[in-house]
Amino acid sequence: MEINSVCVCGAGTMGSGIAQVAATAGIPVVLYELNATVLEKARAGIQKSLQTLLEKGKLDAAASEAIFRRIRFSGNIDDCVADLVVEAIIEKPEAKTSLFTQLADRNGATTIFASNTSSLSINDLASALPVSERFAGLHFFNPAPLMKLVEVVRGAHTSDTVVNALLQFTRMVGKVPVLCKDAPGFIVNRVARPYYIESLRMAEEGIPYETIDRLLEAQGFKMGPFKLMDLIGNDVNYAVSCSVYAQMGAPERLRPSALQQERVESGNLGRKTGKGYYDYQK
Ligand SMILES: NC(=O)c1ccc[n+]([C@@H]2O[C@H](COP(=O)([O-])OP(=O)(O)OC[C@H]3O[C@@H](n4cnc5c(N)ncnc54)[C@H](O)[C@@H]3O)[C@@H](O)[C@H]2O)c1
Repeated sequence: MEINSVCVCGAGTMGSGIAQVAATAGIPVVLYELNATVLEKARAGIQKSLQTLLEKGKLDAAASEAIFRRIRFSGNIDDCVADLVVEAIIEKPEAKTSLFTQLADRNGATTIFASNTSSLSINDLASALPVSERFAGLHFFNPAPLMKLVEVVRGAHTSDTVVNALLQFTRMVGKVPVLCKDAPGFIVNRVARPYYIESLRMAEEGIPYETIDRLLEAQGFKMGPFKLMDLIGNDVNYAVSCSVYAQMGAPERLRPSALQQERVESGNLGRKTGKGYYDYQK
């Protein structure tokens, strides 16, 4: 199973980064998105990112242009035909299974389907799909062009051929794959949950989040938890917390935070909306 073409669905924080990663490795990419404004933002964001790499001398002008030209930006689902389709849309199971069902109708019998989900069960998603042996998790980290790790999540029905093709693809695009079981939060989001939730508890008790960020950064964390949640997107981070909490049997130590829920309900999702715990519009 050779992967010579990729389609990425969802051009938000993760999808645009994953498209850039594949195009940088020389693979033609379709980047599909429902929201035209987001698609334009992704186009400008990728262009800006390539320009920064050019200015830093990490790419020459011809390479930068070739990478950009390899990405076809589309709002038409009929363009989503490829050897590998990576879904990076909203963290809601019904939205993902509905999209995969439409994608399965449009692709051939060898296409691999992967979800970039942070926390949803690959087996639960697979059970609603007609392609369970060609379906797996492919979990990139944020920002995708910079972060090396990718969790390859094997479902109960994922074939060996598909797992091997995804491991090989991940290495080919310059990343380091780790093969995971289909467990709540896989590896990284399971381990990281207390980092966010305990920090939110402290903020609920009245400790300013700027202080919590400053202290953890002073201890060597690259980003404090509140800056990191704003980067991830508070909607995405909250959805992951809710999903891991439910899958783990609702333990009190992992109960999602009302403070985070309030950020989501007020639309303060972080960098992508210009405001989260911090203000990015200044
Ligand atoms: N943000 C992170 O740090 C991060 C890290 C790893 C994995 N993830 C996972 O990646 C996925 C995407 O997260 P994100 O942060 O990029 O979200 P995002 O909100 O930035 O982008 C999601 C995009 O998908 C689009 N979309 C929704 N339904 C669609 C559909 N049916 N077809 C096409 N496009 C559609 C939305 O318009 C939106 O632009 C989620 O499953 C999330 O859990 C996120």
